[in-house]
Amino acid sequence: MGTLAIIGGTGLDTLGILHVDKRELINTPFGEPSGPITRGSLFGQEVLFLPRHGYNHNFPPHQVNYRANLWALREAGADKVLAVAAVGGIRADMGPGQLIIPDQIIDYTWGRPGTFFERGSGSRSEPVTHIDFTEPYCDELRQQLLKAAFAGNITVVDGGTYAATQGPRLETAAEIERLERDGCHLVGMTGMPEAALARELALCYACCAVVANWAAGKSGDTITMAGIEKNLEEGMQQVSALLESLLSCN
Ligand code: HPA
Repeated sequence: MGTLAIIGGTGLDTLGILHVDKRELINTPFGEPSGPITRGSLFGQEVLFLPRHGYNHNFPPHQVNYRANLWALREAGADKVLAVAAVGGIRADMGPGQLIIPDQIIDYTWGRPGTFFERGSGSRSEPVTHIDFTEPYCDELRQQLLKAAFAGNITVVDGGTYAATQGPRLETAAEIERLERDGCHLVGMTGMPEAALARELALCYACCAVVANWAAGKSGDTITMAGIEKNLEEGMQQVSALLESLLSCN
């Protein structure tokens, strides 16, 4: 299936099941990625791994160097990128622990360097290109994930609109109501500009979102880090099972 890179999100800063061969520190024209790229094997296939927030989870969502991360992964040989991301669930079938393979995005982030097509140091010298982003995720990888979920008997939700918010704070209940009126079904802080940058580099990029909590106002409870961590731990076991099925059936 080509070389798959996995970008780990909150709850997946290390991929314990990966057999590490080496770690490569790749500098890019856009600065340093969140850490060295880990090259290793997972269920018999060569994969690359990079934790989005750093190996010590020290880059908040608005300060992740998304450009350097994607540039470095492509440099290391990735042609497909699976982004694992913690999210809040908005739609009723997207409760804590659930995996979702979203198919759309609405971007509410601001102030993040979001393109490789920019004048100035490190930028591309080609003329400006407006990428087609009608379908923000790569359908080939989405279908492989859905097929792997079916084969491995893993419950995933097929499709959903991901709201990318700025963070690092969580949303207000009114903000979530607005996102819902906008047609969003799940909310996270890292989906953009990551997906758009991957498209600019012609990488086949899809997301496996793991619901860490009900989005603000969707349950009577306060959202706590302890609750998020507990749900992510359960969700990540499902992600491992999905990866096993994905890499064994492709
Ligand atoms: N909102 C935004 N990002 C998130 C959430 C949330 O509720 N949970 C995990 N990441």
